[in-house]
Order: sequence, then C-alpha cells, then structure tokens
Amino acid sequence: MDGNRRWAKKRSLPRSAGHRYGAQTFRNITKYCGKCGIKYLTVYAFSTENWKRPKSEVDGIMKLFKEYLNESITDFRKENIKTCFIGDFTPLSPEIIELMREAEELTKDKTGLCLNIAINYGGREEIAQAARRLAMEVAQGRLSPDDISDEQLTAHMYTAGQPDPDLILRPSGEYRISNFLLWQSAYAEYVFMDILWPDFKPADLDKALAEYAKRNRRFGGV
Ligand code: IPE
Ligand code: MG
Repeated sequence: MDGNRRWAKKRSLPRSAGHRYGAQTFRNITKYCGKCGIKYLTVYAFSTENWKRPKSEVDGIMKLFKEYLNESITDFRKENIKTCFIGDFTPLSPEIIELMREAEELTKDKTGLCLNIAINYGGREEIAQAARRLAMEVAQGRLSPDDISDEQLTAHMYTAGQPDPDLILRPSGEYRISNFLLWQSAYAEYVFMDILWPDFKPADLDKALAEYAKRNRRFGGV
C-alpha cells in the first residue's frame, strides 16, 4: 500500500490525511478481495524500515492502526474474514499487541478471505528469524543441519501453512519490492501500477487481475 504521502502532498493536505485515506482504501479493497473469492491477501502496512520516519508520522500510523483494530473487533463479527498479523511485534505497544491477539482469536474460525496484515514486517528479518529458530533446533539436537531444506525454511516463515503469493501488486509507480515477502515471492507474478494507494479502486484490482490472467506461468518448467 504505497503513495499515501504523495497523494496528500498533491492535495496540500497533511501526511496524516494520506494515511487516513489509505487506511480507508485498505478496508474497501480487503472487502472487495473477499467478494472476488481471493483466498489469501497480504497487505504491507508497516515495514521494519518505516521507523526511520519522523516520530510524529510513526505515531500517527500506529494511532490509525489502533483505530482500525478497535473498530474491526466489532466489524469482524459480520465479515467472514480471518485476520492474521505477520512481522516482529516486539517494538509494538502492549495495547496494540493485545488488540492484534484479540482480532486473531475472534476471527480464527472464519472461512472466507485469509487476511495477513504485515506490521513491522521485513522479508530479510523474517528469513533471519527462521534461521535463528532452525539453529536453535540444531543446537538442542532436535534437527540435523542436513535437514535444513527449502521446506523447513518455508515452515518457519511467518506465513507457514499458507500458499506462496500468485500475484504481488505494487501501486504508486515505484518499481521495487522493498523487502516484501522475499522468500515467498520466488515465482510470484508482479504487477506495478501507476496509481497512488488512496486512489486505488476495486476496478484497479480488476485490471491487475486481468493482467495476471494473461501471464504464462511456467515455474521454471515448460
Ligand atoms: C505507504 O505510503 C504507507 C506506509 C508505508 C505506512 P507512503 O507513506 O510510503 O507514501 P509515499 O510513498 O511517501 O507517497
Ligand atoms: Mg512509500
């Protein structure tokens, strides 16, 4: 979800307004993905690198996140969405961590869209924590170094048990992946769109899905 600040700047609005509109777009698009029959959606809400931003901006994003969590605790009862959080939660406030746990608990038996919200997420950190946990198992004699495989690493990612992404969509006109799902994206199809996230509409998702449908996926085979 990229381009919130550029969107605000274009309208001479404060950055916080960009993030607020972006959060609204996130709500709409998530619901739309559920309607489209998409099974898994991972949204990049906050990266391990986003702490480099001014404290006031980070605080504003965390405040929005808390608002979303509070309101969704009610909303979640109506929606058939299962929510999970991925990332390193250690630097988050205990209050936010508790709300996240509550959201996961409330939605764990939902059968519709599986929504992953990546918060303080970094693809490299995710791989590093998987390596640390595997090293621990080796040190405790529960795993042999020879058994560290693609499958073992996959099973230690935050997304364990979920399929790899088929499509990764980046809005805002930037052509990079910025540390998102590095391990899982080995064979993902990328779609880059020149549209700022707060302007993103269900019709834009339709366009991305149509583009995806034209791709010929060979996974290194024929
Ligand atoms: C994405 O929009 C939101 C977060 C990273 C939290 P940006 O804040 O990155 O907006 P731009 O890319 O600077 O316009
Ligand atoms: Mg950005």
